[in-house]
Amino acid sequence: MEDAYFLYHSIGLYPGKATDLTSAMTAFSQVWAAPNDAQWGYLLSHRARFIDRWRGIIHAPEGTLTTTDSVTQSLHMLLTALPPETLRGRRVLVGADCFPSNHFLLTKLAERIGFTLTTVPFRQGAAHVEDEDFLAHWTPDTALALLTWVSSTTSHRIDLPAMVAHGRSVGSIIGVDITQGAGLLPFDVTAPAVDFTISTSLKWMCGTPGAGILHVAANLTSRCQPELRGWFSQENPFNWNLDTFEYAPDIRRFDNGTPGCMAAIASLPALDWHAKADHGAILAQNRRQTARIIEAADDMGLSLVTPRPEAKRGGSVMMKITPPAPQIVAALRDQGISTDARGQTLRLSPGIVTTDAGVERLCTSLNQLLRG
Ligand SMILES: Cc1ncc(COP(=O)(O)O)c(C=O)c1O
Repeated sequence: MEDAYFLYHSIGLYPGKATDLTSAMTAFSQVWAAPNDAQWGYLLSHRARFIDRWRGIIHAPEGTLTTTDSVTQSLHMLLTALPPETLRGRRVLVGADCFPSNHFLLTKLAERIGFTLTTVPFRQGAAHVEDEDFLAHWTPDTALALLTWVSSTTSHRIDLPAMVAHGRSVGSIIGVDITQGAGLLPFDVTAPAVDFTISTSLKWMCGTPGAGILHVAANLTSRCQPELRGWFSQENPFNWNLDTFEYAPDIRRFDNGTPGCMAAIASLPALDWHAKADHGAILAQNRRQTARIIEAADDMGLSLVTPRPEAKRGGSVMMKITPPAPQIVAALRDQGISTDARGQTLRLSPGIVTTDAGVERLCTSLNQLLRG
């Protein structure tokens, strides 16, 4: 049941998603299977519209944003494109509450590129890294810092302006993983100005998997030489002269072979919906519903892992529960209430299709399950 859907940290839903997705995929099938030459015009123009929608969401200037398969791939593309001396012998900084996939990638690249990976630890018993601890580790030998705007296991939101101001003062390249907040909380790549941004479309934007993005500020792009390059990395993909490869001057240099446009096409209806939606109203609804969940958690005596102040949290409320979490999640599912858990942490993220009545149903059921 849509009214009690709490999985926006995983997959977002909006009214009409199934119908829109079916139409987009049907239209694609008809174009792709038609006995004419209309395919590439259709695919590439839809991909361009996807890029423009994303540029609108994060205020990315033209020529600074492209498509990727995943957040992890976006990070890989950026790190392997930097001139090797940028990172070699220096430090890359990340928090212990980063998305684990990014950390798996960074530990491997540390070996290959020759940087030291510093992971800012949790305090005793904490589930997110405190901003002040991150800042304390952010020393001038830090070539690059990857910030996680909103954590996927606590919904802790960092103080981005303070972090970026510090990063600028020590001269690091600053990247932000905005996956858990993008589309719900306002984000602007130019204020405070960050060097690169990575995300994907399937959470608050309600798109599909495979629809990742990489934004790179123009002055960083001009220094980058992506390793995975190909005909689409050029200004003119049809330059097939083997001796005159030249990177495109802008973000297109991060493209390589024929772009996989499917995820962009499938996600575009969701991004179109999002572009027309009332973002203030969506956020206000989320704030009202998360406040109610926090109140109910307090009444049940549950300990929150999400910070209480609105300014310090993303769109989720996460809390420790004692009975085996998978059983609680399954029991809620049986009642048509969609949640999930990581370890003993129950994750609840209400979005546009979640109703206040659905939130009440969740609170009542959870209370009964935890007492029973
Ligand atoms: C903070 C964060 N980063 C990244 C991802 C996804 O990364 P990828 O697209 O590489 O699977 C998630 C997914 O939950 C996330 O919460």
